[in-house]
Amino acid sequence: LKHLLTVEALSDQEVMGLIKRGQQFKNGAQWSPEKPQYFAANLFFENSTRTHKSFEVAEKKMGLDVIDFDSRTSSVQKGETLYDTVLTMSAIGVDVCVIRHGDENYYDELIQSRTVHCSIINGGDGSGQHPTQCLLDLMTIYEEFGHFEGLKVAIVGDITHSRVAKSNMQMLNRLRAEVYFSGPEQWYDKSFDVYGEYRPLDELVEMVDVVMLLRVQHERHDGNESFSKEGYHQEYGLTIERAKRMKEKAIIMHPAPVNRDVEIADSLVESYQSRIVEQMSNGVFVRMAILEAILNGVA
Ligand code: CP
Repeated sequence: LKHLLTVEALSDQEVMGLIKRGQQFKNGAQWSPEKPQYFAANLFFENSTRTHKSFEVAEKKMGLDVIDFDSRTSSVQKGETLYDTVLTMSAIGVDVCVIRHGDENYYDELIQSRTVHCSIINGGDGSGQHPTQCLLDLMTIYEEFGHFEGLKVAIVGDITHSRVAKSNMQMLNRLRAEVYFSGPEQWYDKSFDVYGEYRPLDELVEMVDVVMLLRVQHERHDGNESFSKEGYHQEYGLTIERAKRMKEKAIIMHPAPVNRDVEIADSLVESYQSRIVEQMSNGVFVRMAILEAILNGVA
């Protein structure tokens, strides 16, 4: 694997390979680096806690040398572009850059360049894709159920603005899970119909195996909306009452950060059916698998 930009670009075999390797890392497997030293840089131009810090933990567990980068104190503040920042990283010998950026497809010009040689891992591009979150979500589902085919998964909330939802709907559909959608209609796009079916949440909570909630992404809205947290919670959120109607073995997921008592009732976040904390832990292991596949050239 040279880059990881979208999940769509991975074959089913590569996806399953990364999930299973993530599980091996979770069970204590070590990697065998092909070179004595690798440099990694995490270039985050949008805020992040989980993706940024779990990549850092993964890199440190693997013995990579992690280059400090903070866009607020870098030459980005002097007007340097993303392209020139990554060109610099490549020129000074960085092997892999993990990048989060607000522009969709920011990576196109980087991978087309003949002078940028480092690998790129997409840590989220605007409302586009979040492939590493998708892989950790798939690992969490696989760990729970041992398969994807026929699993009923509801993706609920601010779907239009969610890169997590886009990566997950594409890959879950390809792995033959049954995908359903719910949430405010203004945050749903008819183009998602090819991946699944839109239904009321009250219907879905009783029939699905996975309730995957999404954060309301106010930062990607136009700012003119009137929004009531309580109103959203009652109409589209996983309330305690709705959770009681879930199947006994169904699980709750959320990529986080969570708006407690908006998408999900506060007390459900760490409840026995929730896998939200497990998702965060799995993020480290699946990211180790991704880094290994890129640095050792395997999948
Ligand atoms: N799930 C996720 O991407 O979280 P961060 O924005 O904190 O990285």
